[in-house]
Amino acid sequence: MHTIQICLGSSCYSRGNNTHLGVIRKYIAEHGLEAEIAFSGHLCENLCSEGPILRIDEKVYKEVNLSSLYRILEELKSKDDVTSNP
Ligand code: FES
Repeated sequence: MHTIQICLGSSCYSRGNNTHLGVIRKYIAEHGLEAEIAFSGHLCENLCSEGPILRIDEKVYKEVNLSSLYRILEELKSKDDVTSNP
């Protein structure tokens, strides 16, 4: 089980997380990952200048954009593929 938390503070939200939010939701649904990924939003954590911020498990991703987001999601999914198909 992984946790994705997206910063919904106004700075991160307006600089990309408004779009990333939908992209992540769609990705989880399209790949049937609802049981493996808990997705939620969180409030500003004072990293605005390095945003948009995304937190996956304990790791903080900074300056996320659409291309890095897809890479991050693919990496996360492949980790799960490895654990479910050893
Ligand atoms: S709005 Fe995301 S860290 Fe401040």
